[in-house]
Amino acid sequence: RTIHLKDYAPFPWLVERVDLTFRLSPDATRVLSRVAFRPNPDSAGGPFFLHGEGLRLISAAVDGTLVTPEVTPEGLTCAVPDGPFLWECEVEIAPSANTALEGLYMAGDMFTTQCEAEGFRKITYYPDRPDVMAPFRVRIESDLPVLLSNGNPVASGTGFAEWDDPWPKPAYLFALVAGELVAVRDSFTTRSGREVALAVWVRPGDEGRCDWALESLKASMAWDEAVYGREYDLDIFNIVAVDDFNAGAMENKGLNIFNSALVLASPETATDRDYERIEAVIAHEYFHNWTGNRVTCRDWFQLCLKEGLTVYRDQQFTSDTRSAPVKRIEDALLLRSRQFREDGGPLAHPVRPESFVEINNFYTITVYEKGAELVGMLKRLVGDNAWRAGCDLYFERHDGQAVTIEDWLAAFSDVTGRDLSQFQRWYAQAGTPRLAVEEAWDGAKLTLTFRQATPPTPGQPEKAPVVIPVALGLLHPDGGELMGTTLVEVNEAEQSVTYDVADLARRTGREVARPVPSVLRGFSAPVALDYPRSTETHAFLLAHDTDPFNRWEAGRSLARTVLAAEATGARADRAPLFAGYRAVLQDPSLDAAFKALVLALPSEDDMAQTLHAAGHTPDPLAIHAAAEAVRDATARELEPLLAQTHRANQVPGPYRPDAASAGRRSLANSCLALLSRTDGGERARRQFAEADNMTQSLAALASLLTIGDGLAELATFGEHWADDRLVMDKWFALQVACAAPEDAAATAERLTRHPAFHWKTPNRFRAVFSSLAGNAAGFHAPSGAAYELLADWLIRLDPVNPQVAARSVAAFDSWPRYDAARQERMRAALGRIAATPGLSRDTAEMVSRILGD
Ligand code: ARG
Ligand code: ZN
Repeated sequence: RTIHLKDYAPFPWLVERVDLTFRLSPDATRVLSRVAFRPNPDSAGGPFFLHGEGLRLISAAVDGTLVTPEVTPEGLTCAVPDGPFLWECEVEIAPSANTALEGLYMAGDMFTTQCEAEGFRKITYYPDRPDVMAPFRVRIESDLPVLLSNGNPVASGTGFAEWDDPWPKPAYLFALVAGELVAVRDSFTTRSGREVALAVWVRPGDEGRCDWALESLKASMAWDEAVYGREYDLDIFNIVAVDDFNAGAMENKGLNIFNSALVLASPETATDRDYERIEAVIAHEYFHNWTGNRVTCRDWFQLCLKEGLTVYRDQQFTSDTRSAPVKRIEDALLLRSRQFREDGGPLAHPVRPESFVEINNFYTITVYEKGAELVGMLKRLVGDNAWRAGCDLYFERHDGQAVTIEDWLAAFSDVTGRDLSQFQRWYAQAGTPRLAVEEAWDGAKLTLTFRQATPPTPGQPEKAPVVIPVALGLLHPDGGELMGTTLVEVNEAEQSVTYDVADLARRTGREVARPVPSVLRGFSAPVALDYPRSTETHAFLLAHDTDPFNRWEAGRSLARTVLAAEATGARADRAPLFAGYRAVLQDPSLDAAFKALVLALPSEDDMAQTLHAAGHTPDPLAIHAAAEAVRDATARELEPLLAQTHRANQVPGPYRPDAASAGRRSLANSCLALLSRTDGGERARRQFAEADNMTQSLAALASLLTIGDGLAELATFGEHWADDRLVMDKWFALQVACAAPEDAAATAERLTRHPAFHWKTPNRFRAVFSSLAGNAAGFHAPSGAAYELLADWLIRLDPVNPQVAARSVAAFDSWPRYDAARQERMRAALGRIAATPGLSRDTAEMVSRILGD
């Protein structure tokens, strides 16, 4: 059944309060609920329907009188009085049988929950929709030592604990955790003097890996006060680490639950990347307390209201805490590699979709990351002051409410008087706008003409122009700025802007000459720029652009030109790319992380996207071969400089995860990967032997595996970390990611037979299969073996964990770009999945969208 945004209607009752009692037992947990309802004056009325799935109804009563509701697989309906009434009900559920990891389930010996989006209905009968908000009181009865829920602790004793959450919340923010856990504690005093007890709860043995999460949490709390004036609102803030978790983390009120991979860190077990991600995800979930919890979504179509905004806020936090240009480049890389891919294929959907079958399928890179880009564009368009004023107004107006994108935008149009109706198209139109730029120079004036067009996407053949904020500057051909960054708002299909260069030259004391535009600075809009420029211009911008993002972008364009030519059998002049590398590596003003980003080639999937957009049928093996050839040549050409950079960027002393040290390691390890191609892996072997932290040992191991070596090191690593789940995930993932194209499927298949391949644990499943899908040449190897293997495993996983299976099917969404043989094999694999009897709604929806039926 398809749900449509246009069908929204409020729930006919309001909930005044919810009292829950849990009698925990793995196979037969009893859940008792008492819910006070009263008629919703804003509703036209309707039947009393409560969601509920997989529940054994023990008893139900209305105002103390037993009732016999009509029960279906989706919920129950029941006759109720006209006025306010008390609903009481008892159900039984089996957390131990819950392998879907949605609702109340067991992660090892501990009880835990995941309710977003619609998991609460697997716990008890309830109006499980985000616009029904209520204060919750929870009593947990169990012999387990630690019993946690949302809000503040109010009572506890032998075998029970009680929690009270005074802040009205939707059911998707409910959480409960019970188990043998230990806490690492800290505290934070808010700027108005509230003392908040912080704790990270982990399994005994993991206590030593919690410090970074706590540091990150305190930094996030302080940042949200300083930048948005948002304070925390309970006496306690708990974080729990869970090994079996479908997603990354969850912002349940006062009780955030995290995939353990995104909380636990120690120098020996976590990489610099892990530290950075943990910091960002801790911040993300904490920031949800205001953007998501205090102000929530009216319905799930509005998911980007909380996710786009919260991603934007966590990006801002990282950019303030670390390096802003580096963060912007990382975000653009992610957006362009994954979101542009989604937007350009059969799964394309608007940031605010208009219909869905299974909402879990819409926790996508489009809703999250493109959603964040829309927030960033809005801020750019209204300016920093109006941005803060608009946010303040939004919080003030809607605190305690469940609202829409229209409400969000109204805060900004009210603050600025600006009409945001055209801007709103960004939320409704799928697809990546292409922005073509053309220059015209008459000797004194420069005219830039912009043409925008958004390609058709499923269900949306026609597109209207959107508002594109284009940040641009003009550089003098001798270097140096002729005009600093200005904002051009492109809102027509075609629009021009003219600069009086003679006048600009006079004002900057230069001679009149054709300037070099630097367009879409800071990646000011999520568009694909179509701006053919010469290699000389790219080289010039790489050397001289004053905008760091575009400087990096210029280097990337050089690499892209070379790879595109070589992957299509043409000859390319690599010299300008190498000259650019040399100049960047030798520039003392650039930071190490930035240099590492310049040195990284566009990913193979990115190149497939590029070639496809240019009208080619990409050949994944040719792309892989081209990338390998360029890397080999880089190593040969730049060997002394790479060796020197590698040496100069070793970080002495004990491991510290700060951005500067991490940046130096990143650069040194980029050099190491290249140098391994010429030194036979000698440096990498030494680094592996001497490493005292995971960043260094994993980078060394990856360098060795990539050159077809490192089997002894891989075995040593596997034995040493055999008992560490998080590190073993890396061990599984790395082998598949680094496998040569012809070995990737076989490597993955071999690993599925490893005794530690616990495929029901999402992290382990993804370690093998996300890595396989991410190894572009391996996934698309001509035999089709990887397609077959993934399909086999998705068919197996689907009945166990539909959410993870459905997400992983997306690996096939690129089929329309490839040649007939690959298309046929990919479609056959999809067809086989589709034909599986009893396929979940989650996976069925994904397969049918991917196939375009
Ligand atoms: N709200 C969580 C977050 O982004 C993610 C929840 C994922 N849930 C899901 N059903 N996919 O912080
Ligand atoms: Zn989120």
